[in-house]
Amino acid sequence: MTTLLDVDGLATHFPLPRGPVGALRRAPRRVVRAVDGVSFTVGAGELVALVGESGSGKTTTAQSVLRVVDPSTGTVRFRGQDITALGRRALKPVRRHMQVVYQDPYESLDPRFRIGRSVAEPLVVHRVGTRAGRRELVLAALERAGLTPAETFAGRYPHELSGGQRQRAAIAAALVLGPDLLIADEPVSMLDVSVRAGVLGVLDELRRDGLGILMITHDLSTAAHHADRIAVMYLGRVVEEGPAAEVVRNPSHPYTRALVAAVPRAGGTRRDVGIPAGDAPDPADVPGGCRFHPRCPIAIDACTRTDPALLAVAGAAAHRAACPITRNQETTCHQPLPR
Ligand SMILES: Nc1ncnc2c1ncn2[C@@H]1O[C@H](COP(=O)(O)OP(=O)(O)OP(=O)(O)O)[C@@H](O)[C@H]1O
Ligand SMILES: [Mg+2]
Repeated sequence: MTTLLDVDGLATHFPLPRGPVGALRRAPRRVVRAVDGVSFTVGAGELVALVGESGSGKTTTAQSVLRVVDPSTGTVRFRGQDITALGRRALKPVRRHMQVVYQDPYESLDPRFRIGRSVAEPLVVHRVGTRAGRRELVLAALERAGLTPAETFAGRYPHELSGGQRQRAAIAAALVLGPDLLIADEPVSMLDVSVRAGVLGVLDELRRDGLGILMITHDLSTAAHHADRIAVMYLGRVVEEGPAAEVVRNPSHPYTRALVAAVPRAGGTRRDVGIPAGDAPDPADVPGGCRFHPRCPIAIDACTRTDPALLAVAGAAAHRAACPITRNQETTCHQPLPR
């Protein structure tokens, strides 16, 4: 499989303003370590899900890859090219091949314009094709996103579409340039549950066509059913990653185990999650040692001192976790996740 995106040791820190009192006292600047040493790859024809609770740094990771924000350290390689430090002009041709779908379709669709015009906009920005050629590309992109007959949808305004159709139109706008990689940040979380499967089905199909997809979601069961691989983020780090089925059936890191346990099961209530409530982690104050230790039900003294590396889980080279305590345990979870 060709590697499209190769993220290595990525960190994106935001210094916080000190305020007048802090400045007078020359207090050290607080820094939000939104992304704090993240590595992963996305191959052609592969859907990788970045999973984690709110504030774990998923969006900042995506924005750093897209260079909407500048990473502090680490490298982002796209199709073999180091794009971490490219200037705006050099980045533009790269961005053509790396497109984004947001949670809110109105990020890509202007309510004043017909769908056809919004979907054509990236072609105009990148000066691709003639007027007639653009029309063809727009219709093809709408069809790929499942909006048929494409002619009809091209002539509609966003408010004339359902939520699911609007998100499909936003996907069409991301597809129109023929990208290799799609980054989808919570693409279905604003949608009615009844239409989510349809939109995720579009992503499934694009992946089968050979696109690489990085899908951000806080929903582990969505990731379990649609991703090839899952990377679990906690407080700016990937704490576990591997083939989706492996991570969900045999979660290694205590945080992943808690996420799996929290997935509501058909006909049942949530099982005890095992993470103390009220301990929301703060990326401006990352605990020393293992960053999960204050919430971890199995932490031992050493966990307060040693920052664990992401290493292979016993018996599964492609499955890695950042917990030396659980890494060698067998923990097959026999209950399948609900659809
Ligand atoms: N520009 C910024 N300046 C300061 N802090 C920021 C900035 N952008 C993000 N953060 C902080 O970084 C942390 C990670 O944010 P991020 O949006 O990446 O999380 P997320 O995993 O996408 O969460 P969610 O599931 O809520 O979307 C949060 O604590 C957030 O407040
Ligand atoms: Mg986010």
